[in-house]
Amino acid sequence: IKRMVDLDLSGKRVLIRQDLNVPVKNGQVTSDIRIQASVPTIEKALAAGAAVMVMSHLGRPEEGQYDDASSLKPVAERLSSLLGKPVRLQKDWIDGITIAAGEVVLCENVRFNVGEEKNSDALGQKMAALCDVFVMDAFGTAHRAQASTHSVAKFAPIACAGPLLASELDALGKALETPTKPLIAIVGGSKVSTKLTVLKSLSEKVDQLIVGGGIANTFIAAMGYPVGKSLYEADLIDEAKRLIAAAKQAGSDIPIPTDVVCAKEFSETAVATVKQVADVEADDLILDIGPDTAKNYAELLKSAGTIVWNGPVGVFEIEQFGNGTRVMSQAIADSSAFSIAGGGDTLAAIDKYGIEDKISYTSTGGGAFLEFLEGKELPAVEILKSRQ
Ligand code: 3PG
Repeated sequence: IKRMVDLDLSGKRVLIRQDLNVPVKNGQVTSDIRIQASVPTIEKALAAGAAVMVMSHLGRPEEGQYDDASSLKPVAERLSSLLGKPVRLQKDWIDGITIAAGEVVLCENVRFNVGEEKNSDALGQKMAALCDVFVMDAFGTAHRAQASTHSVAKFAPIACAGPLLASELDALGKALETPTKPLIAIVGGSKVSTKLTVLKSLSEKVDQLIVGGGIANTFIAAMGYPVGKSLYEADLIDEAKRLIAAAKQAGSDIPIPTDVVCAKEFSETAVATVKQVADVEADDLILDIGPDTAKNYAELLKSAGTIVWNGPVGVFEIEQFGNGTRVMSQAIADSSAFSIAGGGDTLAAIDKYGIEDKISYTSTGGGAFLEFLEGKELPAVEILKSRQ
């Protein structure tokens, strides 16, 4: 893949696709991690003498019409303050942008354009006509084949990977393709069904697969233990059994919690009780891994050469069910392994426990991070390969 840093951008019109799809509440950006991550790329292009046009989606608006609620206005303001220079938000841009070297224009939400999500070539061609160089830097949207991530890359005079996309691919490749062993993955979150392909793919690659959250409940049930009223997926119990057996066969392991934190209700004021897995009652909800399990998992992580983390192991947003995720976070932070983490809830946990600086690489991808873990090809990366 061509890389932006290897190109001469002086005097060039450079169109950068970023993933600036950030949470916005009452017209304010509530987490700017993705905007911050895009800044070095824009600064590099400016320093190289380019005129910089940035495009991104925000949310999932209806195509073909402007909608205030999905405007990139709050993003333009934050980007401008992070860059320390004006960022002009352009509402109508698809038919042409007037810009000089050293300036930054943010194109209004790409998803207002008809044909964006259908990966229209007519739209991709128009985007390509805006620039001399197209830079794909939106790792978080690299799993989408859409006009601004895929089609544009077919028609732009030059199409390359931006520094953020390149570093995401390097870090994930290092963790999964050439990991320092043992490789331990932690997959939490609520449902096995949404992460089944990830679990399957990881169970073949890793030395140990630690499951948490609602996902662990399905595995606990698969081992024949009661799960009470807990969130779990009865129809995936056989699948969970197969995964455990397949992992054993491959010489790896999917450990099952030995103790859990239960409550009778899901609320901020619920009383938390630690129980052995065999003692879970019919009206119990399992909301976290227990302290012994957390300690054992933390011990396992000590020996890891590489750690991949996606998804909290308990309902960490509620204090009394946060111990498991806190202990795991601390263990990852203390480990000398190469660690990589991704996904919205995972980043929120990293933020809550203040371990940002202790993770080797924090991915800006949610769905894209998962698809990479699944071993899928990312279409926006594939098209860049074809343009080498
Ligand atoms: C994300 O937040 O995962 C990406 O920005 C992709 O957004 P999408 O799921 O709306 O395509």
